Amino acid sequence: MINLFEGSNPSLSAPFEAACHATKPGFNSPQRRYTVRLRKLRSQVTKRIIVAANRLPVRQVEGAWERSPGGLVSALLPILEKNNGVWIGWSGSADETIEPFEHDGIRLIPLTLGRQEVDEYYLGFSNETIWPLFHGAIRTPAYHRHWWRTYQAVNKRFAEAIADASTGEELVWIQDYQLLLVPKYLKEMAPGLDVRSFLHIPFPPVELYARLPWRQEVLEGMLDADVIAFQTERGAGNFISAATTFAGAAATDRGLVWSGETHRVVASPISIDTAEYERVAGLDETRQKVLSIRADLGNPEVIFLGADRLDYTKGIDVRFRAYEAMLERHPDLAAKTKFVQIGVPSRSTIKDYVEVKEDIEQIAGRINSTQGSRHYMPIHYLYESLTMEDLVAYYCAADVMVVTPFADGMNLVAKEFVASRIEDDGVLLLSEFAGAAQELREAILLNPFHVDGIASKLHRAIEMDGEERQRRMKVMRQIVREHDVHRWARSALGSDLDVVTA
Ligand code: G6P
Repeated sequence: MINLFEGSNPSLSAPFEAACHATKPGFNSPQRRYTVRLRKLRSQVTKRIIVAANRLPVRQVEGAWERSPGGLVSALLPILEKNNGVWIGWSGSADETIEPFEHDGIRLIPLTLGRQEVDEYYLGFSNETIWPLFHGAIRTPAYHRHWWRTYQAVNKRFAEAIADASTGEELVWIQDYQLLLVPKYLKEMAPGLDVRSFLHIPFPPVELYARLPWRQEVLEGMLDADVIAFQTERGAGNFISAATTFAGAAATDRGLVWSGETHRVVASPISIDTAEYERVAGLDETRQKVLSIRADLGNPEVIFLGADRLDYTKGIDVRFRAYEAMLERHPDLAAKTKFVQIGVPSRSTIKDYVEVKEDIEQIAGRINSTQGSRHYMPIHYLYESLTMEDLVAYYCAADVMVVTPFADGMNLVAKEFVASRIEDDGVLLLSEFAGAAQELREAILLNPFHVDGIASKLHRAIEMDGEERQRRMKVMRQIVREHDVHRWARSALGSDLDVVTA
């Protein structure tokens, strides 16, 4: 077996560490406090790795498999390649049976989902029950017993596929909220496996989590993992509260004791492939694209940018209203500024997603007609998925990046913007409710529910002098350089972890 991580030395960023140990009452201090024990020892992974995620790390484009964009995929593929690892996931289409195959040197095992499974496990329980509930019930979660049964059945099938692919010796890494029950099913089938999970989305406060009719079963599903990881210390703390309240787990300074075993709960903020964003930002081709983006927009003095999967958690409607409020307060800015919003199509058959799309289009249309003119449209809205290279060009063309989720596990767009600003320029406006706000303290932090507050901050971003912009961006760039997705993956897969304890 190879040792992938010799010499690595994971630790949390200073701002994140500070947030974890916050003592002042207020937003950053959960009522019940948890501490993060830092054990800075050498991490080693000597086991073969099996990743299980709802989706495969590849997608079909014009009949050919292509690597999906995203930090998780770019961080894990080289590790899996070296380590002879496997990735188990769904292809993204209903009723599609695909034999296991190799891509980029990695073995991929597709799991077939029937139409009803897609409707009830993926669209239903995952995205209409857990997604809204875990994001603070910003839309009303639906609780259906038949969805729950299908979610259980599909999670069991994932566990079977993992057990089939394993020799009983591997490290199995289970990703995200679609597979919360897999650790339990898998441990029943193959007790010797080292099972770890990572939740990419927030884990909600116990008062909200309590609404889930299957709250105990879901916790029991998660608790069987040896390591249960969250984006932030707050999420980890919420999980500890829920597990002690509803599943009879006991919080100790080594982790959660449940069913006679100790399970480590960790906070491990995901990141991006920073060097790759820096590389693309520095290309001549990107500079050319930046010039043409700005020219196509009429070379405004200030470009505000939003770039999100089109999701109701992202607060796109509120940021448009805030922009409108700013223009009303400062009519002189109307012809000098432009708001570019990229909305990446997502889960577009779910009613709440259809509604938010209509809402956003309607607000954008209204603002363009009331604040615009024949020659000028303040909002430029693109409903499409861009390549990473084009997205970086937009990051570099913008003056102010506006990130306003009502709740977000991390928000990698904020980190991608920072990484792309290789000249240490540009301003980041960032919701306090994004996991990234725990690290990027030099952003202008905002409350995404406060339209007038965001309007003031949009204006403050325009007014900020060059020196302050540079100082803030430098600090944030340093953070995303030091804490990139490769370091995150090494630390998550290593043997010495930062444990969150009660
Ligand atoms: C979020 C989730 C991921 C999910 C992604 C895209 O980032 O945390 O698990 O894969 O959205 O959503 P989709 O439903 O298209 O997979």
